[in-house]
Amino acid sequence: MAGPPRTPPSVWGLLLACLALPAAAQAPRDAFRQPDAPLGLEFRLGESVFRRLWVEAPSSTRHADGLGPLYNARSCQSCHPRAGRGPRPEGEEPPAALILRLSVPPATPEQQALLETHRASTIPDPSLGTQLQPLATAGLRGEGRVRLRWHTEEKTLADGTRIPLRRPEPRLEGPAAPGRRLSLRMAPALIGLGLLEQVPEAALLALADPTDRDGDGIRGRLNRVWSQAEGRVLPGRFGWKAGEATLADQNAAAFSADLGLSTPLRPAPWGDCTAAQPECRAAPHGLTPHGPASAEESEVEPRLFALLTLFTRHLAVPPRPPAPGPGVAPGVGREVARGEKLFASLGCGACHRPRLPLPDGRAIAPYTDLLLHDMGEALADHRPEGEAGGRDWRTPPLWGLGRVAAVSGPPGLLHDGRARSVLEAILWHGGEALPARERVRALPAADRAALLAFLDSL
Ligand code: HEC
Ligand code: HEC
Repeated sequence: MAGPPRTPPSVWGLLLACLALPAAAQAPRDAFRQPDAPLGLEFRLGESVFRRLWVEAPSSTRHADGLGPLYNARSCQSCHPRAGRGPRPEGEEPPAALILRLSVPPATPEQQALLETHRASTIPDPSLGTQLQPLATAGLRGEGRVRLRWHTEEKTLADGTRIPLRRPEPRLEGPAAPGRRLSLRMAPALIGLGLLEQVPEAALLALADPTDRDGDGIRGRLNRVWSQAEGRVLPGRFGWKAGEATLADQNAAAFSADLGLSTPLRPAPWGDCTAAQPECRAAPHGLTPHGPASAEESEVEPRLFALLTLFTRHLAVPPRPPAPGPGVAPGVGREVARGEKLFASLGCGACHRPRLPLPDGRAIAPYTDLLLHDMGEALADHRPEGEAGGRDWRTPPLWGLGRVAAVSGPPGLLHDGRARSVLEAILWHGGEALPARERVRALPAADRAALLAFLDSL
């Protein structure tokens, strides 16, 4: 047999891992892990990188080591189960998928210049870096623990229905730092991202209205961030504050900060260990046992990184249920159609845009504008990221919303997972979205149900 000897052994390992993957049948829980094009094996190889459990270096499983020294989880899949959202936070202990981002205000003219030129989006905490990693490899200590303190309140709708709301406040156990800023972030579902990556910048700029020239109270703005992949400043698209420009940038950042693994784009094998953590920087890493660092480019080989990025670029958005017509229960279809009209008339579509163009002339229905909006004090994290201020968040896409629970269990919606239902998520809207929220509060129960039926159909 003409065995291809040039295929690195790691790829054969992946092939074996692929055979062990659950069949790609369309069970509801698999709704977010389908390819949007006939990519065959490459897609599933990418998925096995996504699911791979990385191990500490040095290890005999040479192509799967390099985890840490500091890390949040051992695989991408641990936080994005089946490419879905992380589990809903409950109680004091946050799930691994709810990470804590850290930063400090700029303290020197150099740091100020880094921010102003968009070379950096935040200034990392001098002792803990950009993110809290509670876990560490053998012989090292994690960076401490975060505890959630829940604050509760209640909102009353116009028809008298009372909705209890809860909001987590992160409390960091461990060394204090002056001016430290904290931001809780829930792992989102990963569908349709390759399409969002393609929306032309001009189309987004056409939706932006930072000074509210049209007087509708909506002031969307693009974030501007440094792309290591492209070597220039680009519009931010990914993350809750649009802090990453491309999927390659986002995935390299995830490998580095969440798993402590280096990639060609983020070559430091110690991930998020700071200069104040010398024992962490000196710990064994995935390149150590195999010779000098220059012998291999990074702990995650370029080919595996490329397969993973292909996987994240081609996760399909599940098809929506058919519109009312022959064979569809007319009642349900009609309620959804009515809800869709309400979504537009209440002003949701001013941010959750139902239509964005692609360069090839096709259009997509992501229900986002990829822009930043001031969402008011109740959602604020007071931690700026690039052009995004402390009250700003990027409109999250709503496609697939109705499938989230089937894929990964009861969802925690919004950036910190606080909302236990779509209605709760809407009731937290403030700032530019305050009028839309108040219109929802004033709706008669039947209209509210139609709006929620529409959102559940996405
Ligand atoms: C410890 C949990 C955790 C792990 C492990 C993790 N992620 Fe994430 N992921 C998150 C969180 C939290 C966010 C939102 C980050 C933000 O707001 O900046 C995110 C965001 C993303 C996004 C952007 C999604 C969007 O809609 O903007 C992508 C793509 C992504 N992750 C891919 C990956 C890949 C690939 C891996 C493995 C290399 C990975 N993640 C590992 C928690 C995790
Ligand atoms: C001014 C822009 C804006 C308007 C108007 C707006 N939203 Fe949002 N929406 C956002 C942003 C930004 C977030 C994320 C906030 C956060 O996570 O803190 C969000 C989050 C959500 C979420 C949670 C999504 C998730 O993945 O967690 C839902 C559901 C939602 N909005 C529905 C609606 C509906 C329904 C309306 C109309 C009543 C509406 N929104 C109006 C900007 C807007």
